[in-house]
Amino acid sequence: KNISIIGVPMDHGQNRRGVDMGPSAIRYAGVVDRIESLGYSVTDEGDIQIGHADGSIDENTNLRNLKVVTDATEALGAKVFEVAEAGNFPLVLGGDHSIAIGTLAGISERHENLGVIWYDAHADMNTSDTSPSGNIHGMPLAASFGLGHEQLTHIRGYSPKVKPENIVIIGARSVDPGERELIKERGIRVYSMHEIDSMGMQAVIDDAIQYLKEKRRTDAVHLSLDLDGIDPMYTPGVGTPVPGGITYRESHLAMELLFDAGIITSAEFVEVNPILDEKNRTADVAVALIGSLLGEKLL
Ligand code: ARG
Ligand code: MN
Ligand code: MN
Ligand code: MN
Repeated sequence: KNISIIGVPMDHGQNRRGVDMGPSAIRYAGVVDRIESLGYSVTDEGDIQIGHADGSIDENTNLRNLKVVTDATEALGAKVFEVAEAGNFPLVLGGDHSIAIGTLAGISERHENLGVIWYDAHADMNTSDTSPSGNIHGMPLAASFGLGHEQLTHIRGYSPKVKPENIVIIGARSVDPGERELIKERGIRVYSMHEIDSMGMQAVIDDAIQYLKEKRRTDAVHLSLDLDGIDPMYTPGVGTPVPGGITYRESHLAMELLFDAGIITSAEFVEVNPILDEKNRTADVAVALIGSLLGEKLL
């Protein structure tokens, strides 16, 4: 099997600079060697070109840097589609989480009933109407099921990319009022920190897999992993840290169980910000988790 790495040096979906260096940080943390050591062949497709933006919020749309983000997600969508169409496993490295709009646009085109696992402290389900920040990295899930500015919902010319019932969020602990409404209204499955604490990670992942596989009958599952889902004591290099997160051990277990279930068909690791990090620790964690997701075992 071939893994295709696509870097997305995007930092315009929010306003802390530096997350555009995430793909480099993950590469320098040894992602290619790590994956090759597991017996895969790896193609590094390089980086998607990202334009420049002034960082302002448009007063009519309440969106920051809309044009740059849509152009980049359009380009990413095309690349992800091409790579997946060639039979490779797309592994996207961010960049802020707005890039998921592009990843999902490229992947979903090839599937009837895509499932999504959103491993994150946040729900990323705001729209231009509900966003407290104007930051598009807080909107990719809503955009992917068809809510929000039409330029964000229609990347690659179609919408929606995913059914709300096919989404599972793991690790949530910071949800805005508009997002809470949507979660209830659309029946989105959320395993918040409460469920992780009370059920344990093993049961959470077993339940999520069973739900996506048996109940929703998904034909592919994308893992979108925001490093802020993990507790900032392990991954300090993120722009929107939230205390009380998933541990390093729980996260490895989650990745191992997903590998064993064999359901993940594409993945992205986002929000690594080297400027905010301590000696590239957050990128190191990303690489370690990628190893587990792709089958690394101790013995
Ligand atoms: N909910 C907040 C917002 O809409 C924070 C979003 C953080 N998203 C992320 N991908 N880190 O601005
Ligand atoms: Mn720029
Ligand atoms: Mn987040
Ligand atoms: Mn996120």
